[in-house]
Amino acid sequence: DWNMPDYVEEAVARIREQVGTDDVILGLSGGVDSSVAAALIHKAIGDQLTCVFVDHGLLRLNEAEQVMTIFGEHLGVNVIHVDATDAFMGKLAGETDPEKKRKIIGREFVEVFQEEAGKRKSARWLAQGTIYPDVIESAGAKTGKAVAIKSHHNVGGLPDTLNLQLLEPLRELFKDEVRELGLALGLPHHMVYRHPFPGPGLGVRILGEVKKEYADLLRKADAIFIEELRNATDEETGKTWYDLTSQAFAVFLPVKSVGVMGDGRTYDYVVALRAVQTSDFMTADWAQLPYSLLARVSSRIINEVRGINRVVYDVSSKPPATIEWE
Ligand code: XMP
Repeated sequence: DWNMPDYVEEAVARIREQVGTDDVILGLSGGVDSSVAAALIHKAIGDQLTCVFVDHGLLRLNEAEQVMTIFGEHLGVNVIHVDATDAFMGKLAGETDPEKKRKIIGREFVEVFQEEAGKRKSARWLAQGTIYPDVIESAGAKTGKAVAIKSHHNVGGLPDTLNLQLLEPLRELFKDEVRELGLALGLPHHMVYRHPFPGPGLGVRILGEVKKEYADLLRKADAIFIEELRNATDEETGKTWYDLTSQAFAVFLPVKSVGVMGDGRTYDYVVALRAVQTSDFMTADWAQLPYSLLARVSSRIINEVRGINRVVYDVSSKPPATIEWE
């Protein structure tokens, strides 16, 4: 249990002592951990920090702009925005297997980051938003998806090839402490209390082959769902449905079904909505969202997203279903 303002001062002093006048690079994803790490290190060493934000084209609506606005404009952090959408889409073309898609995205991510980092010849340190649960997890044996999560998230292998020392200022913190630290550093509440978002992003929420056309449709549908969750308050608890769920998102199903619009027939794609409640993400219940909320989301998606004519709600819990569809 830390006293946050004191903790910030201590952490800042420690980082300054550790890196001295060296330059540091950090892979900024827009997620809570890397964001808080970036804000903390920036407070400590200012312009000695450069963040590399690799945009794989599989982010949510306006996410890249938001990251650039908060870090680049509001906090004055050096951020390089690498729009690698074409490279990722090219590598993903024709691939339908979920784990292979993850590997492709993970590999390409490392490659793009490495190329960008290689340009910063003065960098001596690679900063990462590793938090205490990551440290414990890496120590234990992990299989399957967890390995994929690690390989993508921890930008594996980079320190060796780039000859950089590791700077991990959040290593001793739990998630709720990281959030508190983020607020103390001036990060916006909605960023610090965001639902988790997988490293491969929409790449695992577009079932089967990933196409930019699908990603564009999914982004719009997902944004409507999230907006309505944030705007809907549960009377009993006074909380928004966004805060009452642990993770919520839309999934793109590459199948077409028939619908009607005006006096015409449509033949368009399907979107599934997923919302879960969980404390540890190992097991999860599907969220019993109010029908009125689901109705609003459905009608907005079908009316506002041309190309989607059907919305379904996922009522599967984990296990046996997983939270993500891939
Ligand atoms: P599942 O689908 O396994 O998801 O029930 C559990 C949690 O892990 C997240 N997840 C991922 N995170 N890379 C990530 O960084 C991945 O490949 C990945 N796959 C699943 C998922 O969003 C949920 O929070």
